[in-house]
Amino acid sequence: MFYIAPSILAADISRLGEEVAKVENAGVSYLHIDIMDGNFVPNISFGPSVVSTLRPLSKLLFDVHLMITSPWKHIDTFINAGADSITVHYEAFNGDEEMLLDVLRSIRERKCGVGLAISPKTSYECILPYLSLVDMVLVMTVEPGFGGQSLIPATIDKVAPLRRAALSAGLNLRIEVDGGINEDTIWRASAAGADVFVAGSAIFRTQRPKAVVSTLKTKVKEHPFIG
Ligand code: DX5
Ligand code: ZN
Repeated sequence: MFYIAPSILAADISRLGEEVAKVENAGVSYLHIDIMDGNFVPNISFGPSVVSTLRPLSKLLFDVHLMITSPWKHIDTFINAGADSITVHYEAFNGDEEMLLDVLRSIRERKCGVGLAISPKTSYECILPYLSLVDMVLVMTVEPGFGGQSLIPATIDKVAPLRRAALSAGLNLRIEVDGGINEDTIWRASAAGADVFVAGSAIFRTQRPKAVVSTLKTKVKEHPFIG
């Protein structure tokens, strides 16, 4: 199983409900919601009210990516707003392992999916100790903060070791890639072992989202993990 996750950061915000319906009809099962606070990253995007407003309009899995400082202060709010999965950034904990463990456990206790993200400059080894505590890791393939950037090729090198570590530990781990994923780049992430593919501009900035989603799926199927 693999999943395409359109990022609403690239949607037409003036008609967000219709935009979400459009991608739901294009055959995806995730909706990636980027939360940026202007502090952890330079950009500001959405707050919890966007999640709660969209919740009754969509059956998609709401994949909430928190690019915020002190994420522990906002977990409950986003779960109550309707998040199905919450991903926090490893870097947001500044090495406070206790706090990180606490946050991962508390998300899981609330029966919400748990994700742990790493930015391009963070090594994959940093998150190896936490793999059994999460449902998903997110390998950022661009610097977090803005949509529409080009994928940084070296970030893909982190995916296969994470997939191998998960396999050897018998973990059913999802590996998400986020940033610069499109019809030309998705195969690299797929061959490396990713199975959740965020795509913002590629899906929302086209007149033919159905065709793009279909091509993205075909490319993934054509390039399975090769070990
Ligand atoms: C970047 C965000 C991404 C972004 C992806 O900080 O986390 O989810 O929206 O956008 P594209 O697919 O346009 O690179
Ligand atoms: Zn994201």
